Amino acid sequence: MTDTLEQRLNEIYADTHREETPIFEEAARIIKNGGLVAFPTETVYGLGGNALDPCAVKKIFEAKGRPSDNPLIIHVCDVKMAETVVVLNLTARFLIKKFWPGPLSLVLNAQKTVPSCTRGGLETAAVRMPDNRIALELIKAAGVPIAAPSANKSGRPSPTDAGTVRDDLKDSVDMVLDGGVTKVGLESTVLDVTGDVPVLLRPGGISKEELERALGEEIALSCDVSTAKRSPGTRYRHYAPNVRLILSKAQDAERSAEGFKWAWIGISNPCGNPCEKIIFSDLNEYARELFRVLRQLETSGAELIVAEYPKQEGIGLALFDRLFRASEK
Ligand code: TXA
Ligand code: MG
Repeated sequence: MTDTLEQRLNEIYADTHREETPIFEEAARIIKNGGLVAFPTETVYGLGGNALDPCAVKKIFEAKGRPSDNPLIIHVCDVKMAETVVVLNLTARFLIKKFWPGPLSLVLNAQKTVPSCTRGGLETAAVRMPDNRIALELIKAAGVPIAAPSANKSGRPSPTDAGTVRDDLKDSVDMVLDGGVTKVGLESTVLDVTGDVPVLLRPGGISKEELERALGEEIALSCDVSTAKRSPGTRYRHYAPNVRLILSKAQDAERSAEGFKWAWIGISNPCGNPCEKIIFSDLNEYARELFRVLRQLETSGAELIVAEYPKQEGIGLALFDRLFRASEK
């Protein structure tokens, strides 16, 4: 990125909360011209580009160092825009009514207008309407659906604030819209609704229980490591901090960490003497803070992060999924 752009980036940081209209106009212009804008959603920050422009999409993959067979989620500002990128069926319409805007990405048959690179070569595409004013204003101003993976280098913990986006991607993003810290902290739920039974490809901000309650039926779970049908993104080691991480119960923490200078994260008090102890008030806070804390502990001097096993219900299922994939197997 040029100095001028770097300068402008700083100005934009200062201005996001003040004169908004020109900022959205500028951001929309960047998107329409094939550039990249990082923006907040309710889950994590996204690295956005025009979903219908193969050159912009290619830039996203390059910026992240992301494998090209891992499709992107397409962000829309309303149902009408969703219909331009996917074929909505009855289940999708019902879930949209119930959960949009919100952290639910629906995998559906893609419209021909969506370039193959956005879909990672699949016949389907994932679409969602984020519950964040800045994100929605940006999509509306751009007038095109925005493809946006989490705004981190591939494999790193997802960013939950604008500063972290800059740390990872400042050389490859044209603008960062700063909306403060995101409220969910883990990514959206990815649900495949192309078949008769909805399949949970990635647990996230909307829980499996909420979905089942709404649908009145059980949904299939395909996000565990052993199953064949799953989200391409879940094949890769993910969310990994630069410090080793293991999962443990609080009462086994000291034994699990034997020989290491270790840090603890969880909602219970661990047995033993970690060099850092981060205890959250509940699972929601554990989920919201996880990615930030993983990055923070990289510079703490700890040689090992010991994370408490979360109960796998509600947001705990998504939390377990992220911890498991960040951990040493
Ligand atoms: O909360 C979120 O979903 C964030 C924010 C920015 O919206 N985005 C996000 O994107 O987490 P990303 O690229 O980091 O994860 C997208 C996941 C990947 O696991 C990908 O494989 C899956 O969604 N996915 C996308 N399109 C798919 C499709 N057509 N079929 C199956 N999985 C798909
Ligand atoms: Mg990601």
